[in-house]
Amino acid sequence: MKEAAVLNESQTLVQVEDLTIKFPVRGNRQKRFITPVDKVSLEIKKGEVLALVGESGSGKTTIGRALVRLLNPSGGKIIVDGNAISEYKGKKLNEYRKVAQMIFQDPFGSLNPVKKIESHLTFPLKKHQGYKGEPLNQKISELLLKVGLTPVNEIRQKYPHELSGGQRQRLAIARALAVNPQFIVADEPTSMLDVSIRAGILQLLNELKRDLELSYLYITHDLASARYFGDRIMVLYGGKVMEIAESKELIKNPLNPYTRLLLSATPGSESQVNLKDMSNNPPDLSEGRQGCPFVPRCPLATEVCNETMPSLDEAKNGHLVACHHYEKEIF
Ligand SMILES: Nc1ncnc2c1ncn2[C@@H]1O[C@H](COP(=O)(O)OP(=O)(O)OP(=O)(O)O)[C@@H](O)[C@H]1O
Ligand SMILES: [Mg+2]
Repeated sequence: MKEAAVLNESQTLVQVEDLTIKFPVRGNRQKRFITPVDKVSLEIKKGEVLALVGESGSGKTTIGRALVRLLNPSGGKIIVDGNAISEYKGKKLNEYRKVAQMIFQDPFGSLNPVKKIESHLTFPLKKHQGYKGEPLNQKISELLLKVGLTPVNEIRQKYPHELSGGQRQRLAIARALAVNPQFIVADEPTSMLDVSIRAGILQLLNELKRDLELSYLYITHDLASARYFGDRIMVLYGGKVMEIAESKELIKNPLNPYTRLLLSATPGSESQVNLKDMSNNPPDLSEGRQGCPFVPRCPLATEVCNETMPSLDEAKNGHLVACHHYEKEIF
């Protein structure tokens, strides 16, 4: 019994408990807040990809930024490799940059246009890994090769604007790898790229996961890529977790009405139900809101849904859902 517990512990890399993030609402005399991430709990195992799916404004990037500590959580706990990193400050936070890295949607935004490609890797290798001289030189080439940026000697001398979008994203990945991380938050890493090169980037992330035993939080709008790359999928709506399950199980047997409608609205599905477009009426994120955020769009909603947010409960082995009525038919 004790051994099993120890094994379990060693397999979990990231553990998030009741993560809450608040932002002040500007332009109001009375100080008010929104809570775009509200008591979110999740777990990512070593070598696992957790895909985080949800529409625009659901809180995906905010969760990702908190997990790499680019922003401070307002409440809850983030434990990475046994350490409560949500409490980290100063030097410890700097050390944490070696453990967790983030890759952004727009690779160009994080590259310095006046620096050669090789210089983008020099800084993290020197600062976090202590490389210098010939070993530094070799390590730069090794990283570029690893992410498929060849011929290496030519690429090293180029500037970011001389690379294609896919190549820039590969450079951003190489830079994240330079610190030898265990955990990567990949925030829609392919959404700004041509469709034809998206698969190559996901394939690269997949190979790196296998070779380096990396864990990922993979943020996406797109259920198809979540299924391809994610071991498990977590569905978010209005800052709340709606459902979590193994990818195949979630796609085959979605339980939350939001997930069911999301899936039925994807091209090629049998039941072509359109999810009501609510882009002009986004979910209520105000602090202290009650009930389920999906109520205004949910065909199954009743009074209880307005009053109480359902807890995230295990409906089946490893399949968790937050819905008062997930057993009811929609169609
Ligand atoms: N620094 C901030 N200050 C105030 N509000 C913010 C801040 N960052 C995000 N928000 C708000 O928090 C909510 C969630 O934003 P977030 O960027 O996490 O969503 P997302 O799911 O990543 O959306 P997208 O798919 O468009 O990237 C939004 O309403 C957003 O406007
Ligand atoms: Mg985002």
